[in-house]
This record gives sequence, structure tokens and C-alpha cells, in this order.
Amino acid sequence: MGKMKLVLSRGILRFVFILGLLSIISVIFLKFYSLKPFLISDTKCIYDIKPQLRINPQIDILETVIKRIEHEIIDIRDSQDNSPYALRYGSFLADILGLIESAKSGDKENEVAKPPESNMSSNVSQFVHISPDFFLTEEIRKYVRIKPNRLGKQNFMGANGTFTSIGHACFSMKEELEEYMNYDVGEICNDDWRLAQRLMVHGCDPLPRRRCISRGPQYYTKPLPIPESIWSLPDDKNVRWSQYRCKNFACLANNKTGKGFFKCADCFNLTVHEMPRWVVPVYPVPSSNSTPDFLITEVLDLKPGEIRIGLDFSVGTATFAARMREHNVTIVSATLNLGAPFSEMIALRGLVPLYMTINQRLPFFDNTLDIIHTTRFLDGWIDFVLLDFILYDWDRVLRPGGLLWIDSFFCLKEDLDDYLDGFRMLRYKKHKWVVVPKVDKDDDREVFFSAVLEKPPRPF
Ligand SMILES: *[C@@H]1O[C@H](CO)[C@@H](O)[C@H](O)[C@H]1NC(C)=O
Ligand SMILES: *[C@@H]1O[C@H](CO)[C@@H](O)[C@H](O)[C@H]1NC(C)=O
Ligand SMILES: *[C@@H]1O[C@H](CO)[C@@H](O)[C@H](O)[C@H]1NC(C)=O
Ligand SMILES: *[C@@H]1O[C@H](CO)[C@@H](O)[C@H](O)[C@H]1NC(C)=O
Ligand SMILES: *[C@@H]1O[C@H](CO)[C@@H](O)[C@H](O)[C@H]1NC(C)=O
Ligand SMILES: *[C@@H]1O[C@H](CO)[C@@H](O)[C@H](O)[C@H]1NC(C)=O
Repeated sequence: MGKMKLVLSRGILRFVFILGLLSIISVIFLKFYSLKPFLISDTKCIYDIKPQLRINPQIDILETVIKRIEHEIIDIRDSQDNSPYALRYGSFLADILGLIESAKSGDKENEVAKPPESNMSSNVSQFVHISPDFFLTEEIRKYVRIKPNRLGKQNFMGANGTFTSIGHACFSMKEELEEYMNYDVGEICNDDWRLAQRLMVHGCDPLPRRRCISRGPQYYTKPLPIPESIWSLPDDKNVRWSQYRCKNFACLANNKTGKGFFKCADCFNLTVHEMPRWVVPVYPVPSSNSTPDFLITEVLDLKPGEIRIGLDFSVGTATFAARMREHNVTIVSATLNLGAPFSEMIALRGLVPLYMTINQRLPFFDNTLDIIHTTRFLDGWIDFVLLDFILYDWDRVLRPGGLLWIDSFFCLKEDLDDYLDGFRMLRYKKHKWVVVPKVDKDDDREVFFSAVLEKPPRPF
């Protein structure tokens, strides 16, 4: 009862605070804006010189308001009150604060050239430096604006502020990004992960962060324990199925077409399709003894005890990581949710999904990983220059003596030499290197290429 009273009286206090705040703000804004028509209709000379003088007192009051709101926000934070009401109140104040700050800097921003209204997608580069004004959604502007540190000091990372960034292609996907950033602060986000993924795949990557509450599965049940989780289909309840053609894991595991994706269509069939991969030898042409499928033990035996951590850049459900785990090797699996909940599946198996696109520089430091494995992801579709950028980035994060395992890369025969030149240019030591005909289709125009390569030391 006493607690209730306290909550009630706190609520009333806050209500009064907001009322007071709103009246101060409205007074300032009325004054501020009533000046403008007068100034603009006047001669240009007055407009250029006088506004600074006249507006300064208002700016001072605005500073005071900003200070008071900041204190209030800090008070809420310190009170450790996690009730929905306090959260809403806090985000409301943060929102007001953002609005006031953007109004305060509004005059300066208006002088920045507006982007020409011309064709937006044809020349992205010219928009890149005009960011905040280009987008209409207030939340995007707030996000991309530089956030100076409080008290104007450098932080422990040596930066004066935080420079939040978005991908350059966001400028050519203006409408989609505005749709994505159109939400109420503190409310539940739209069910729009697919929009987010489309933005990312098309180069609006990194995406801005959002201040709405992400959705979750309606009835999440606790995940299975390891090792049971690794070879069982997870509980359907632990995934949001709304934007997939399949509505459960059984549908994804079933060997029928029409699942909404084609790469790795069998990857959810853990028992029949996934179990033998990298463990049981496969010979695509039974008459010959060459195979593009190396076994994990063969590869690990190249460097006994040295391979501990790595990255798998493939399409699938992280069975590679599951098998490597049995050898005490920790593999992070890069993945996108292309037509199926790959990220959730990998996480529910107890493995680490790294949700990222091929557009991005890898989030690892130079010379850190012991192994990079890739299959079914890069193949004959990939542009030669893009392949170069990707290979050099992989090279960067691999440590000296680390292994690059290209697993069943396939392409047209006539393109093979150009791709192989790409792989050769790294000047890695070749442990394994095979080219075999691809026989799963009825033509013989395609070939598989597999290799295990070792990064040389570079003592300079
Ligand atoms: C923008 O440019 C692209 C290609 O340069 C063209 O296809 C498109 O029609 C143009 N759009 C407008 C609105 O001018
Ligand atoms: C894009 O803008 C740059 C700099 O403004 C210009 O040099 C270039 O010709 C433009 N490209 C196209 C395709 O319009
Ligand atoms: C950071 O602040 C310091 C001191 O105020 C200043 O000298 C420096 O130029 C600032 N750096 C940037 C990148 O703004
Ligand atoms: C996996 O594939 C096999 C063979 O096609 C099939 O018999 C089995 O039912 C599939 N597993 C699941 C879980 O659908
Ligand atoms: C699924 O079907 C395809 C062709 O329909 C077949 O090639 C593949 O082996 C099947 N997978 C399994 C696990 O049975
Ligand atoms: C993995 O580590 C465990 C615990 O340290 C050890 O018992 C096991 O033999 C290791 N397995 C392999 C394949 O090295």
C-alpha cells in the first residue's frame, strides 16, 4: 500500500514536471518562431546579422531546459526504477531532449546545402556527406548526428564523441530506410526483420540501431542442453515464423521443394543429410578416387593441436561448427536468414551464428584466427574484384600458419583459371588442391575446386 502511494506520488510529480517543461518549451518556441517570419521578410542583411543577437537569450534558456531534462534523466537512471512507466517516461524525456537539441542546432543545419532533388540512385557518392538532412525521419537524423561526449571531454577510447554510422547504400534506399526507422521510441518494433535484411544485403550495412523493443517468439521454451541440442531439431516455438514459407522445422527438414530457399535445401535434415558431412568420405565419381570433400580429421592433422578458433563462411545450419566442436575447435558461423531461420537454428543447436553480410569487413582483428572454412557461399556468381576484396580480408584475419579451407567452390570450366589466379595470388602454401568435375547436373560444364592453404609468415 505504502509502495503504491509512493509510485502514485512519483507519478504525479513527473506529470507536474512534464507540464512545466512543456510550458517552458512552448513559450520558447513561440518566441523563437514568431521572430522568424519577421526576420525573413526583412532585408537579407538583417537576416544575416541580427538573428544571432536576438536568439541568444532563448538559446540560454534552452540550455537551462536541456540541463534540467538531463538531470531528470540521470535521476531516473539512478533510481533503478525499471517499471514500464519509468522506461516510457525516460524515453519520452530523451525524445524531447533530442527535439530541443535539433531545434537549437536547426539554424546552423538549414544553411547546409539540401541535396538536389534529382535522381537519387544514380549517384550515391554526392549524398554521402550530407547525411542528416537527407532523411526525413527524425529518428534517422538523431542516429547519424555525432554525439559529443558529455562535458566536452575525450572518452577512454580517445574520441571526442560517438560517430554512429550507416552504410552508404542507405542513401539510395531512402524510402526503405525511412520505413525501417519509422517507429515510436520505446514501443514495440514492427515485425520487419526482412526489410532490415534486404537493406543489409543491398549495402545499407551497417544499419542504424533502433530505440524500439524487438519482438520475440510468443512462447519461448528453454533450449535443449548440449550435446542433445546439436543433433535435434529445435522446438518450433522458439522461432518467429511469420515471414517464412515453412512454419516449422519439420517442414524445413522434409525433402520437398517449395521451402522458399534453394541453397542448402537439405541442411535442416540433420540425421540423413548433415550427419555424414566432413566425417564420411564421398566420391562424386565412384570410378576415380579424387573428391572435393576433405574430412575434418585430414585437415586438422595438418596442424595437430594448433587449430583452436575460426570462422565458417557458408550457407547452412553450422554442422561444420558442430563437428569442429567435437575436436575442441570453436567456430563462428557467418549466416543470413535467407528463406529460413538459419540464425535461430544455429543458436538453438548451441553454436554461434554471426549475422553478417558479405559486404562488410570482418569483425576480427588482424592475425587472429586459426582457420577459415567456406562452402556453398562463394561460387561461380562472384565477381572477380569482389572475390579479391574478400580473400584479402580473410588473409588479414588469419594468423600466420592459419588455414584457409576452400570447400567445393564451383564454377564454369572456362572461368576456373581466373578464379584460381585469385586464390594463388595470396601465395599460400598448398596442402591440398583438387579440381574435379561436378556431376550432380546433366552437363559437364561445371567443376568443383577444393583446397587447404596455409598463410605464410610475413616477418616485416
Ligand atoms: C534514375 O537513374 C536510373 C539509372 O541511372 C534510371 O533507370 C531511373 O529511371 C532514374 N530515375 C529517375 C526518377 O530519374
Ligand atoms: C557522381 O558524382 C561525381 C562527383 O559529383 C561525378 O564526378 C560523377 O561523374 C557522378 N557520376 C554519375 C554517374 O553521375
Ligand atoms: C577533440 O578535442 C580536442 C580538445 O578539445 C581537440 O583538440 C581535437 O581537435 C578534437 N578532435 C576531433 C577529431 O574533433
Ligand atoms: C531426412 O531425409 C530422409 C531421406 O530423404 C527422410 O527419410 C527423413 O524423413 C528426413 N528427415 C526429416 C526430419 O524430415
Ligand atoms: C532430396 O531430394 C533431392 C532431389 O529431389 C535429392 O538429390 C537429395 O539427395 C534428397 N536429399 C535427401 C537427404 O534425401
Ligand atoms: C577436448 O577437450 C576435452 C576436455 O579438455 C578432452 O577431454 C577431450 O579429449 C578433447 N577432445 C579432443 C578431440 O581433443
